[in-house]
Formats: sequence, C-alpha cells, structure tokens
Amino acid sequence: MQAVQATRAGGPEVLEAVELDRPTPGEGELLVEVAATGVNFVEVYRRNGTYDVPFPHVPGTELAGRVTAVGAGVTGFRVGDRVVTAEGREAYARFAVVPAEAAAHVPDGVDDPTAAAVALQGLTAHYLVTSVHRVEAGTTLLVHAGAGGVGLLLIQLAKARGATVFTTVGSPAKRELAQAAGADAVLDYDGFADRVRELNGGLGLDVVFDGVGATTWEGSLAALRPRGLLALFGAASGPVPPIDPRRLMAGGSLVLTRPTMGDFLQTPDERAWRYREVLGAVADGTLEVRIGATFPLAEAADAHRALEGRSTTGKVLLAG
Ligand SMILES: NC(=O)c1ccc[n+]([C@@H]2O[C@H](COP(=O)([O-])OP(=O)(O)OC[C@H]3O[C@@H](n4cnc5c(N)ncnc54)[C@H](OP(=O)(O)O)[C@@H]3O)[C@@H](O)[C@H]2O)c1
Repeated sequence: MQAVQATRAGGPEVLEAVELDRPTPGEGELLVEVAATGVNFVEVYRRNGTYDVPFPHVPGTELAGRVTAVGAGVTGFRVGDRVVTAEGREAYARFAVVPAEAAAHVPDGVDDPTAAAVALQGLTAHYLVTSVHRVEAGTTLLVHAGAGGVGLLLIQLAKARGATVFTTVGSPAKRELAQAAGADAVLDYDGFADRVRELNGGLGLDVVFDGVGATTWEGSLAALRPRGLLALFGAASGPVPPIDPRRLMAGGSLVLTRPTMGDFLQTPDERAWRYREVLGAVADGTLEVRIGATFPLAEAADAHRALEGRSTTGKVLLAG
C-alpha cells in the first residue's frame, strides 16, 4: 500500500512516498481503509526532531475511513463501519491500524473528510473550553491563531458558551475567517496585550489559549487579570523558554498550564463524551468545520510546508 515515511528527522523533504505492507490488526484493533488523514502540528514536531520518535517513522494519528478488518476481542465495531480517531498510528497511509477503544462511529450526515478534520483539533478545542477552563457566559478569553485548525473551532465553542472572545491572526484573509467564526475582536499580534485591555474596559482576561508559544507567551501573560489562566497548548512559533515562577506572582497570582490531549481522554466515557459533543455539533450544524486545504497523500511534504509556512487556514487533510 502507499504510505509516507521519514527515515530521519529533518525538514518537510524527509517525508517520502513509499510502498509498505498493509498492516494487520491485533487484539482489540481495527484495520481502517483511510478516506482522509488529518495533518497536525504535532507531526511537524515529530518530523523535525523537536519530539523524539523512532525512525523509520510513518506520521499521523488522525484519520477517518471504513473498517476492513476487526481484530480479536473487538466489540462495538464491524467491517464496513465508518470510524474516526485522533489516536491512530501511521495514518499517512492507505490503511491504518486503530485501537478500537480510541475509535468513534462517524454519525450520518458527517462525511469522512469532515470527521477527519474535526477529530484531533475538535477534541482539543473541547477539552480546552470544558476542562482546562470551564468557559461560560461572561468569561473573557483570547485565542491565538484564530483562523487555524484549533483556532476556528475554539472560537466557535467559546462563543456557543457565551464568552467574549478576542483573537489574533497573521493576515487580513485570516481576520475575515476569525470574524465569521464569531470572534468579538480580531487583533494583530503586535501589541495584542495592550489592545485587549483597551477593548476590555482596562481589565485583563480570565484565560488565554496559546498554541503559538515562543512569540506570544509573554504577551499572553501580560493580557491576564489577577488569577487568570494561561493555557499553553502548543508552540507553532517555537518552544517557550523556562519561566521563573515569580513572573506568575508579578502578574497577579497567575496560573500556567501546559495541557495535552491524552490527559483529557482518560476513560472510555470521557472520550465518548467529547466525540459525542464534537461530532454531534458538526452533525447538527452548530459547529462549522473549515477544510482549508487537501493534499494528495504522496504530497504530504507540501502539506507540512504549508502548515509551517502559515499559509493554511482551518484544517489540512491528506486524501487521494
Ligand atoms: N496540546 C494539545 O492537546 C494540542 C492538540 C492539537 C494542537 N495543538 C497545538 O495547537 C497549535 C495549533 O495547531 P493547529 O494544528 O490547529 O495549527 P494551526 O493553528 O492551523 O496552524 C498554526 C498557526 O499558528 C500561527 N503561527 C504563528 N506564528 C507561527 C510560526 N512562527 N510558524 C507557524 N505558525 C505560526 C499561524 O497562524 P497566524 O498566521 O494567524 O498567526 C499558523 O497558521 C499548535 O501549536 C499545535 O501543536 C495542541
């Protein structure tokens, strides 16, 4: 089968189209014929050596498609079912193995590319607004990279809960997308902390959701009210340096967290709840999923170039 593999860490060019054996599902696993694979920033960190992975490495954890084989002991799934997961393995391929416990049924009315587009970023946006900070009517918050994959979903989920949502974007076209997603104010990165306070009656915010990292974290801390929360959930612009805890005291007993999705999918019930809410909101039209670009599987390197180059909006998929 066709797949995309890196034999060493490096730039996007290390991602090469190769022929590999079709995997077989073990106990508790499904084999899925992949209809669409999600491209996520974490695959950039794994490809370029920021995160350690063994090589050769077939990237990808997010996919949707049809079950073609079921391993021993699997309950709840049959050959032919349409499934989605954010936690598969080696998903940059025509077929991928998925632990059944990490899969969800794709509801009628949601197509495979849309399901693949909302799994990892949708679960992330969901845990951020429900469990990292309980966003509700009156919450004031800032989302960085508001026209990105997580950003567009996060804005919509926060607005649906009644929050006032500020967001930053890197271009005029992205500004329009973030506005259409419901952001109350869309800002440039330059001077965003001061601007947020001006627009918020001189007050800092309850929470900042920051997936940009190196270039934004200091402004994010400066944008918070006393006892506000900075959720640093990614580092698209590069890693955040070590932070002196006294910086949190100086900002007003601030709280800093560095969440990651796996810790918010701890039980089958928790995972099922998040998929139900996210896929349900897509199915009933209350959560809009923007697929900004779809690349052929063999051109995964170009997908990475686009994502790292800040030229993408919404979700990036591999299909076909
Ligand atoms: N912790 C978790 O559980 C979890 C799960 C999913 C994703 N994440 C993180 O969430 C963040 C967003 O992920 P995503 O997949 O939705 O990506 P994305 O937001 O679609 O793409 C990244 C965006 O970051 C902004 N950015 C600012 N400076 C950048 C730079 N120097 N290089 C590249 N991008 C830059 C760009 O938007 P502008 O041009 O508008 O600035 C870019 O489009 C990533 O940091 C990712 O690692 C974390």
